[in-house]
Amino acid sequence: MSQRIANRLEKLRHLLAEKEIDAILISQPENRYYLSGFWGSAGSLLISQKDAILATDFRYIEQAKIQAPDFSIFRITGEVGEWFPKLIADLTLGKLGFEAGHITFELYRKLTSALSEKQSPLKLIPQEGLVESLRIIKEAEEIELIARAAAIGDKAFEHIESVIRPGMTEKQAAWEIEKFLREHDSQSASFDVIVAAGANAALPHHHPSDQPIREGESIVMDFGARVAGYTSDLTRTICLGSPDDKFKKAYDIVLGAQLAAIAIIKDGMTGKEADSLARTVIKEAGYDEYFGHGLGHGVGLQTHEAPRLSYLSSDVLKSNMVFSIEPGIYLPGWGGVRIEDLVVLEGGKVRVISQARKVAK
Ligand code: CO
Repeated sequence: MSQRIANRLEKLRHLLAEKEIDAILISQPENRYYLSGFWGSAGSLLISQKDAILATDFRYIEQAKIQAPDFSIFRITGEVGEWFPKLIADLTLGKLGFEAGHITFELYRKLTSALSEKQSPLKLIPQEGLVESLRIIKEAEEIELIARAAAIGDKAFEHIESVIRPGMTEKQAAWEIEKFLREHDSQSASFDVIVAAGANAALPHHHPSDQPIREGESIVMDFGARVAGYTSDLTRTICLGSPDDKFKKAYDIVLGAQLAAIAIIKDGMTGKEADSLARTVIKEAGYDEYFGHGLGHGVGLQTHEAPRLSYLSSDVLKSNMVFSIEPGIYLPGWGGVRIEDLVVLEGGKVRVISQARKVAK
């Protein structure tokens, strides 16, 4: 058995014992990959203290054998009502956990009615964030893959900075970035590339449009790469031509807030405390109502995962967590500024992974 998979399964089995459940059904795609190595788009894992089964359908059987050699493969045929009772038939399970945040209500009903039809005594027990609580702490190899994805993102920024011109549309700039990512060993863009210019930059998640980019306005670009499943996330704000005082002021405040958070965040802080470091800087400058989102989020197999850094988050930041630090100011009708870096907590402090330059030319 691969050591990496064995370690992860051992940790999960520990959690199963703690939660007093006999097994868990894993259907969330990134969790499924993390625990098994299987990268197909459909299937479930059933993991007990003894068993590690990957249930998938005809399309993925061969792939499953190759990618998840540590799992026994169960072939799904027919509806849930048919295969689910077969899957559990030979296992002696009393309580089966399932991922409450992923299984739909419809599927839950099908599972429970399959059990009651067979008069099975098995109980389905909802679980939240079990595998996510393992994924939140990155292994050295995972940090390395995230760093590789971040390095591609850094180069993509360098590229777009050298080719972006007034008159180019947001869509054209977004495509330049995406093309560069794909041509430089990124499996895909880790999410739809955001290029937001002028008033559009006041929308944190603007979708690139046919609007031409003009001199003097703020241009927010937010994108990431993906390497071996692991993602990166980077935002830079630039201005073509000479930025006006409004831009300079907003930019300085956001950068100051971000640098303060990077300098002060440490092991043991909550997501809320981390968020307040940057929020205080923005508040003292009088812009707090224009910073309406959280300071950051964990990054790994998903671009948005635990931990959360926001005024609502009680997540405790610990060594080997990887997350973004991305304060912003958004002024309706004018534009916005967001600066985002990817960091890892190491030796109690933040180490910045992304290296793209922050001061506009
Ligand atoms: Co982000």
